[in-house]
Amino acid sequence: MIHEEANQLPDILKEKSPQDDELNFSLRPGRMSEYIGQQNIVETLNIAIEAALQRKESLDHVLFNGPPGLGKTTLAHIIANEMGTKIITSSGPALEKGGDLMGILTHLEKGDILFIDEIHRLPKIVEEFLYPAMEDFAVDFIFDKGVHARTHRYRLEPFTLIGATTRSGLLSSPLRERFGITRDLDFYDESDLILIVKRSASILDIPIDPDGVYEIARRARGTPRVANRLLKRVRDYAQVRAQGKITLSVAGEALALEGIDESGLGGTDRKLLRTIILNYKGGPAGIEALASTLQIETDVLIDVVEPYLLKTGFVIRTSQGRKATEKAFSHLAISHKREISLFEGSKGKRDS
Ligand code: ADE
Repeated sequence: MIHEEANQLPDILKEKSPQDDELNFSLRPGRMSEYIGQQNIVETLNIAIEAALQRKESLDHVLFNGPPGLGKTTLAHIIANEMGTKIITSSGPALEKGGDLMGILTHLEKGDILFIDEIHRLPKIVEEFLYPAMEDFAVDFIFDKGVHARTHRYRLEPFTLIGATTRSGLLSSPLRERFGITRDLDFYDESDLILIVKRSASILDIPIDPDGVYEIARRARGTPRVANRLLKRVRDYAQVRAQGKITLSVAGEALALEGIDESGLGGTDRKLLRTIILNYKGGPAGIEALASTLQIETDVLIDVVEPYLLKTGFVIRTSQGRKATEKAFSHLAISHKREISLFEGSKGKRDS
C-alpha cells in the first residue's frame, strides 16, 4: 500500500526508487553488534533480548518513538534476528478493519514479531483488538448483536508487538501503557554519522577520503537515512563529474547541487524558515497557517520537517506558534546573500 504521506515528504527523506530501497536494505545493519549510535537503547535492548532468550520467553512489547529515518524499522528487524524469530510487518493506515488485524494475529507463531509502523494511525476500532492480544495473548470474537451477542475468546501464541511512531503523544494511553519497553530515538551525533557513512561507503565499495566522509556526515540532518541518500547522490556526482573518488570538494559541489546547504538544511527547511521570517515577521506563526502557506501537510511539517529545526535551534515552539530564532535569521541572511551573489554571477555571465 502506498501511503499518501510518502508523496508529501521532502525529497531528502523520500525513498525514491526500488533500486534505492534495495540499496537501503543492503546498508541496514542486521545485528545489534553492527548498529552504530543510540548506545543506551542498544544496551538496554540487548539486556532485554538476552534475558528473554534465557527464559525462553517472547520479548516484551516494544514501542519506538522518533522522527523518520533514525532506525525504528531497522531495530525491529534486528530484534527479530537476535531473537531468531520471524517478523511480520504492517502499518497503522494499512489495517483498516478489525478483521485485517485478526487475520494477522491468528496466524502468528510462538515468539513471532509483529511490527506495526505508524502505529499512531491505527483506527480506534482496530486498536481495541490489540488490547487483549497484547495483554493476554487472546482475541475476542463477537457473534450476533445486542442481547444475543456472545463472545468467544481465541487464544494466540505469545508474540511481541513492536510499534513505531513519529508521535507517541497521539497514541491513546491504554495502548501506550501496554508496551513494556518504550524507547525514544534521537538525532545522531556527527561522530556516529561519520562511522555510518564510512560503513556504507565500504559496503558499496565507494572510494571516499576522510574529509568527504565528514562533509556528508555533518550535512545529514542527524539522520542515517539522509546520510546514506546523500552518499549515493555524491557517488553519482563523483562518477560523472570527478574521477570517481569522493573528496571534500566533490562532496561540497554535489551537495550544493542537491540544494543541501552548509548546515545540512534542504529546500523545504529553508522555505519554512523563510516563510516564518518573511510572511510572519519571525513568528509566532500557527502550524496550520504555515502548512497551508507552504502547501505541505501539517503532519509532515510536524513529524518530518520541524523536529530537526527545533533540535538545532533554528525554530522554537511557543504557545502561540513557531518562532524563527536569531540563528535562523542569520542563516537565511547568509544563504540569501549567497543566492543573490550566485544570481548576480549568472546574470554577469549571461550579460557578457
Ligand atoms: N545504517 C543506517 N543506520 C545505521 C546504524 N544506526 N548503524 C549502522 N548502519 C546504519
